[in-house]
Amino acid sequence: VHPILGNLSDIQGDVWSKGFPKYNETYYLFTIKQERAADFARALRNMVTHQPHLISNLPTVKNNWAEIVTHKQAAGSAGSKKERLPMPNALIAFTYKGLETIQSGLASPKSLKLVMIRDRTDPSFASGMRSDARLNDPTTDLDPLFADTEVIHGMLKVAGSCIHDVNKRLHDIQTLLGRGSVINDVAGGSEGRLDGATRQEPHRGKEHFGFEDGISQPLMDGVDDDKAVLATPIMVTDPKILLVTKDTRTSEGGIPRPDWMHQGSFLVFRKLEQNVKAFHDLTKDYEKYGCKSPDHMGAKLMGRWPSGAPITVPDYHTSDAPAADHEKVKRMNDFSYERLDAPPHMCPLAAHIRKTNPRMPSDSNNADPGFQFSKMIRSGIPYGPDYKPGEVESPESKRGLLFVCYQGYIELGFQHMQSFWCDNKDFPPGKESGVDPIIGQASSPEDMKTKITEGKEAVVLPTGISQLVTFRGGEYFFVPSLLALRGALSE
Ligand code: HEM
Repeated sequence: VHPILGNLSDIQGDVWSKGFPKYNETYYLFTIKQERAADFARALRNMVTHQPHLISNLPTVKNNWAEIVTHKQAAGSAGSKKERLPMPNALIAFTYKGLETIQSGLASPKSLKLVMIRDRTDPSFASGMRSDARLNDPTTDLDPLFADTEVIHGMLKVAGSCIHDVNKRLHDIQTLLGRGSVINDVAGGSEGRLDGATRQEPHRGKEHFGFEDGISQPLMDGVDDDKAVLATPIMVTDPKILLVTKDTRTSEGGIPRPDWMHQGSFLVFRKLEQNVKAFHDLTKDYEKYGCKSPDHMGAKLMGRWPSGAPITVPDYHTSDAPAADHEKVKRMNDFSYERLDAPPHMCPLAAHIRKTNPRMPSDSNNADPGFQFSKMIRSGIPYGPDYKPGEVESPESKRGLLFVCYQGYIELGFQHMQSFWCDNKDFPPGKESGVDPIIGQASSPEDMKTKITEGKEAVVLPTGISQLVTFRGGEYFFVPSLLALRGALSE
């Protein structure tokens, strides 16, 4: 039992710095039939109570890699080849609309206190991503699954070592929840799912621009590996920022959420298409921007080299002797931008990882609550095939990131990071650094610029059809605790 988070077995398992282990992951979007709301609540309770393995909790996920001997020899004998495979896992989350539908089927129809959530504690969640005026999201060319966000009530996030395992787990859950009779795919006729997969070796773990991902994640004392927590204090984050807890964030006048939300977290989902050709075309011009090579320019835009090594640390090698997990966490994350602000190691103020995690108060400003509170656990997966130079463009050749993050407050987590930092050419204040070159969406195309080398002109980022990353749809969800799934949401 954790002093702030309570019993860790009640927290859904992906809400943690390491999240679900996975090679494949599917996001299934569903609608709950209004007239079957009470049946849905019953089915949910039955599933979570009688088949508790189907929706994973945190302790299960922590031990969820199976070690498989792939050679003939017996386990442990010299020469036998072992492989670690991710076990299947699933998470369930709901939109505000979904919670309204569930509430209408409960015995006591006001028990979830949704009006309080909408009017006082979490207005952005209640109104949904599409009406979030702080985001400069395009409204055209969205994935058809997001054509009508009113019908998105819930999402299953199912991960595993292969699509077969994922499909099996998804099918088991859909059947228990009443697919076709109680829940419908959001897309009506076609399947309401988005499929992601890690890239194949040797690119496993890298996103489509070619950079190692999933390195910098907040650590929670009492949840993450003690050694990593002790070795890397810069990554340690108050659990109240990442999850909804009884003991709400106290500064800024945080209002306590209804009890049933404790141990839950807000999930932000965004389908982000990546234009890999445009990224290569941009970094071919490296000399113009004072860089030594396309990779060096890429590192200035991202803040890390493709290997994941931070650009601020000179002569950094990630392929040194194998290190224990906690040492890797330390080596990759224990840096701040105060040190080594000299070229060529200087990390531009607008680089993706510096915008999204300034790592020192002087990069932010005292009035900005974000420096302390704008943190998130990321848990997305790439989609689409690898980019091949010269490929013919087709709908099948689209690729990108199915982006997922968890936080205790959408307004302070994702929304603050995207709109006040990444989309804002004046963050950090007074430095004219430009927008985040990877995910920045300025309100006007003229502002799609970013400064990477002192004394050189700003990089003009492609806009329109050649933009590096384009939003293709998304939504705000809430991931209730297992306790809430068995109780408040289904009684
Ligand atoms: C870090 C890529 C979207 C927030 C990173 C890293 C890469 C990356 C390569 C460095 C590795 C790591 O620390 O894990 C991308 C790509 C995106 C994308 C290609 C879109 C296609 C986003 C979005 C957000 C975000 C939408 C939030 C608004 C972060 C944060 C970090 C990070 C918080 C960690 C920064 C740190 O602590 O150093 N991203 N990202 N990313 N990204 Fe993104």
